Amino acid sequence: MNNETRTKEIMLRRMAYQVIRGLDQEVHLKPGIPGRHDRRTFHYVPEMEAGARVLTLVLRYLNPTWQEKIRSSTRTLSTWAGHEDDVIRLTMRGAVGKGASTPVLEIPTPEELWEPVTVEALEQRHAFRLGHSRAALGFTTANDVAVVDFERPDVAHLLLCGQTRSGKTTTGKMLAVSLARTTKPPTDTEPGEANYILIDTTKKGLHWKDFNRLAHLAHPVVTEIEEAERVLAWLVQEIEERALADSSLYQKRYFLMVDEVKALIEDSQVAGQYLARIAAVGGEFGLHLVLATQYPQIKMLGSAELKRNITTRLCGRVDAADAAANALGVRNSGAHQLTGYGDFLLRDPGSSYLKRLTVAQPTGTHIEALPVRPEPLMLALPDRNWTDSGIQAERLLSPSAFGPQTHPGQSPDPMEPEHVALALWNEGASGLMGQKKLVTQLGIGTGKAQRIQEFALRLVAYARKLEATIDVNDPAYDARIKALLEGD
Ligand SMILES: Nc1ncnc2c1ncn2[C@@H]1O[C@H](COP(=O)(O)OP(=O)(O)OP(=O)(O)O)[C@@H](O)[C@H]1O
Ligand SMILES: [Mg+2]
Repeated sequence: MNNETRTKEIMLRRMAYQVIRGLDQEVHLKPGIPGRHDRRTFHYVPEMEAGARVLTLVLRYLNPTWQEKIRSSTRTLSTWAGHEDDVIRLTMRGAVGKGASTPVLEIPTPEELWEPVTVEALEQRHAFRLGHSRAALGFTTANDVAVVDFERPDVAHLLLCGQTRSGKTTTGKMLAVSLARTTKPPTDTEPGEANYILIDTTKKGLHWKDFNRLAHLAHPVVTEIEEAERVLAWLVQEIEERALADSSLYQKRYFLMVDEVKALIEDSQVAGQYLARIAAVGGEFGLHLVLATQYPQIKMLGSAELKRNITTRLCGRVDAADAAANALGVRNSGAHQLTGYGDFLLRDPGSSYLKRLTVAQPTGTHIEALPVRPEPLMLALPDRNWTDSGIQAERLLSPSAFGPQTHPGQSPDPMEPEHVALALWNEGASGLMGQKKLVTQLGIGTGKAQRIQEFALRLVAYARKLEATIDVNDPAYDARIKALLEGD
């Protein structure tokens, strides 16, 4: 052990010792000595674990009923540890509600003792496993590799919360770097194992410039609202197409990252609805949302549905306990006691407790080392009209899906059944009737043709979901069809 590590070790022990004294003085909890277990003379046995930025004091054997008492003393305990602010976080280790859990105190170490958390350290732990949509992000306080695993069916989308400078953008970048190292990029003709779409309308892509050369990018970084809307419309359309396609396509995932999603939802009439739609069903088809925001309240996300369907949450430092509860969906998370700068809590639907992790910060060199392409790929985005009309098609099919209508002034424009029937006309090998044909046969515009086609596709998609077939020659229909046509 060199001098520096020895000094560090001494400082950390001293800090832990101070907190143990604080627990004795303020909460009247007596520590026991490891190995000498006489339950009558102590409340807990302390164990110390040093992480990159946090010292964990495990209160072994402590009865969890002491939680409340300790929680209300974290401010004083922080002072004992030499911190001015209330930074000591109490958490429970072990599966909450599934038997024994152990209270632990997380004590941030002084900044001068912080160990850098690097991409190289993750490499050394073989964190980037080829062929996997598992994003290694950093290290937990217990020094395990922290992973968000998009291959798990319950981890479809990720909400990244935290106040300004908590490290949301950096975490988004780390996620992109991580997946770009483990998955095949798209080619000119085929989607890759991971395809990125990056939207940053607030800062106009400022922090994402380096990513424009990335081979995994399916479309240049989107900085304008209108283009963002069309990209979202494209993704909704992709859901429909995937619903009809071979499920092997679902392994070719799209990751849509939106940096500050509140701005996009606020400035667009349709973005919130499209996002809610993708959040609701996209995961099943390999379309994943990664939404970063300072404001995770339902009001700011545009709908309860969007939030409810994003069950994996990463929350960095926030300014108040309320904000933390809002971001993570659990009380007493202690996210307001985080240190910021990449210090995050992960709530993962598969686990009943929060994991604290420090995210690695990728540098320009790490981004440059990723696969690149000379010319960026471009998605074949639908035109502007489609964005408005597409929503109406959605509404016809599932009027309740989006909650209150956002364009109260707009008159509903129902689709003619004969148009939809024509769009469903199967021309043998060439499949459904093409858009151009609809335009010429019906004498309508391309916007409307697109809309009709989308409606028809949705009809097929939903029928398939119900495992239903529409047999137009079924005699059971005859009498009713006759009556319907005569009533015309
Ligand atoms: N994982 C990390 N490790 C070390 N430093 C970090 C980390 N993440 C962020 N930082 C530091 O914090 C600063 C702010 O980070 P970042 O821009 O990612 O925050 P943000 O949450 O996106 O903020 P905003 O809401 O203002 O966009 C960075 O410039 C960087 O110096
Ligand atoms: Mg940011």
